Amino acid sequence: MKSFLNVQDLGDLDKALNEAALIREVRYMYDTLGKNKTLLMVFFNNNLRTRLSTQKAAMNLGMNVIVLDVNAGAWKLETERGVIMDGDKSEHLLEAIPVMGSYCDIIGIRSFAGLTDREYDYAETVYHQFEQYSGKPVFAMETATVHPLQAFADLITIKEAMMDDYFPISLKKPKVVLTWAPHPRALPQAVPNSFAQWMLEADRQGINMGIGQDKSGETYGIDFVITHPEGYELDPKFTQGARIEYDQRKAFEGADFIYAKNWSCPGVTHPEDYGKILHDYHTMMHWTVDAEHMSWTNNAHFMHCLPVRRGMIVTDDVIEAPTSLVIPEAANREISATVILKRILESL
Ligand code: CP
Repeated sequence: MKSFLNVQDLGDLDKALNEAALIREVRYMYDTLGKNKTLLMVFFNNNLRTRLSTQKAAMNLGMNVIVLDVNAGAWKLETERGVIMDGDKSEHLLEAIPVMGSYCDIIGIRSFAGLTDREYDYAETVYHQFEQYSGKPVFAMETATVHPLQAFADLITIKEAMMDDYFPISLKKPKVVLTWAPHPRALPQAVPNSFAQWMLEADRQGINMGIGQDKSGETYGIDFVITHPEGYELDPKFTQGARIEYDQRKAFEGADFIYAKNWSCPGVTHPEDYGKILHDYHTMMHWTVDAEHMSWTNNAHFMHCLPVRRGMIVTDDVIEAPTSLVIPEAANREISATVILKRILESL
């Protein structure tokens, strides 16, 4: 694997999930694969889980790790071509990238949506510049439009919960609902884009979410539904084939997993609204996932990628309930990153 941005880069999801399960059981079974290989992680914005889990994954594989926080001590980087650099940016990314590539074997990139220029963000300009000019394999640690390490960890977590809930035999195709929830600040669409892309691909591939099932039955894949207020439609590039239900209660009925996330306007139908919050959040608090919302479900598990604002996205009782999966999701970031780094190391 030379690049990891979309679910298609991983190929067969059943195989990837089995690899993840093996690594979870025998964490250090590939601990010499990365000997004398160096991972460079480049961060253009804040994070917590991403740095810790990806660094731990690299260490599981015996790699060396270098971290560059672009906003903490590095030269300010210009990212656009054709500009006269007479401002506060001292170095252009197009020189910085090959220099970074010369010090390492693999590069992880955490860029972020600017939320002002839809075309620029959705072209994944920064990620593709690293792909093109670093000379090294690259992978996304959340970019302007996707967060595949998170979505892979979420898929692993759903499968594990299915096996725990229904062991030894799962006879049910899980209903997974992605719900918009209010937030005081404009957030990117990377997490919901990737979550939708991965859930839909898991369904298309008919992956086995439980164990010991009959492949002829209706038990493979995922029944995936997205619910949000009108105007927040995600890019069809990620959601083609998803059921969209504007009535949050109807969407929640019979759900096995509720995945909450805020996102700003994706600007699909109205590009001029890209990155905006469409309504004062005070008027949208009925979308916050609370105990009443969860009572509409099939005793669903609550999921969120974290960090999460309590009282906005979800209430304390829901996130603290035994059915909440937010901590296992975060823990599985180490597993998803280990699988991806292993695949990349094997292709060097
Ligand atoms: N979920 C996630 O990527 O968390 P961080 O932003 O803290 O890394």
